Amino acid sequence: MATPSMPPTVFLGAHDIRRLVRQEGLSACLAGIAARIERDFRRWPEFDKTARVACHSETGVIELMPVADAHEFSFKYVNGHPGNTRRGLPTVMAFGLLADVATGMPHLLAELTLVTAIRTAAMSALAASRLARPGSTCMAMIGNGAQSEFQALAFRDLVGVRELRLFDIDTKATARLVANLAGEGLVLRPCEGVAQAVRGADIVTTLTADRACAAILTPAMIEPGMHLNAVGGDSPGKTELHPGVLKDAAVFVEFEAQSRIEGEVQQMPADFPVTEFWQVLVGAREGRMRADQVTVFDSVGFALEDYSALAFLRDTALTLGIGETIDLVGAAGPEMTDPKDLFSLLRSSGLRTGGPDAPAATAG
Ligand SMILES: NC(=O)c1ccc[n+]([C@@H]2O[C@H](COP(=O)([O-])OP(=O)(O)OC[C@H]3O[C@@H](n4cnc5c(N)ncnc54)[C@H](O)[C@@H]3O)[C@@H](O)[C@H]2O)c1
Repeated sequence: MATPSMPPTVFLGAHDIRRLVRQEGLSACLAGIAARIERDFRRWPEFDKTARVACHSETGVIELMPVADAHEFSFKYVNGHPGNTRRGLPTVMAFGLLADVATGMPHLLAELTLVTAIRTAAMSALAASRLARPGSTCMAMIGNGAQSEFQALAFRDLVGVRELRLFDIDTKATARLVANLAGEGLVLRPCEGVAQAVRGADIVTTLTADRACAAILTPAMIEPGMHLNAVGGDSPGKTELHPGVLKDAAVFVEFEAQSRIEGEVQQMPADFPVTEFWQVLVGAREGRMRADQVTVFDSVGFALEDYSALAFLRDTALTLGIGETIDLVGAAGPEMTDPKDLFSLLRSSGLRTGGPDAPAATAG
């Protein structure tokens, strides 16, 4: 009847996440989350998947991203508001939850703003490690905002990128990125425009934030054998690649049902061929087929990546002794002696209903 053994929820706030990443090391977090994502993508059919639920407004989007296997459920709350930085707020902010499927009991509630940047970079680098030409060392990064350091370091660690060509319409953003990456073993080359940054690069990452169907990359800029990591186009009406770039490339997506709505491929006919990346990982479909082929990872961010990240956080926090336990749903405390008697939680704290016929509360 009572539930004294029910484990409480672990809470990892923004401060805890920063501590965890500092203690574990950012490179170890990128590698650890990439390894988890790969492991979970390889068991893709075990997951109950759904395209995320999006609530659009004039200024941005707020999304819920659920996924579950037979054991654990997770969801992420995330927003995308390109105008936020002008108000002193990040474009992307997030938190998420991991719960036990058998009981519905939440195990972990965590900040996912920093973690989204880490998991997105880990996912991008994992995809590039399979799709880019072997020996790719030079990457152009268009859009040098909040996500960019994480992408740079993930591609250094997991793909072997050594040189970055940088462009942002905001030169201050590029200057910040260069300052933050000083001493990280990367050759950093700020460029005057997109075409200059892209010329001769093995990989091109687009990370811009704009609520528009933009054409950051046009067919004339694309060279044989390039791998494009298109991260910034991630909701309806928000894209970065000219459709002609997609037409001539092999396009890989996370979850097709979601990418057709939100990804670069929203611009293409419903039968435009795409390959879900998990199929490449398990060997069911080919990745890059020729050295001169152009490959595109049309990233939008899928719930399973956050599930993998949350599981990594839970295990790492446990090892490092980080986080506090909270009674999030009122099921873990000693007050809950009879789970059918929810009302007793109010009675034990001395509250009265306050209804019209209820006796007035007496002092003491
Ligand atoms: N696919 C995913 O999983 C995923 C995850 C996180 C964020 N995102 C998306 O990635 C994008 C970047 O996120 P962020 O947190 O770095 O945003 P941010 O606002 O911090 O940075 C975006 C940068 O893009 C620059 N920019 C805008 N238009 C440009 C253009 N035409 N050319 C060059 N630069 C341009 C801005 O000046 C800014 O510095 C957003 O659109 C976000 O929604 C996608």
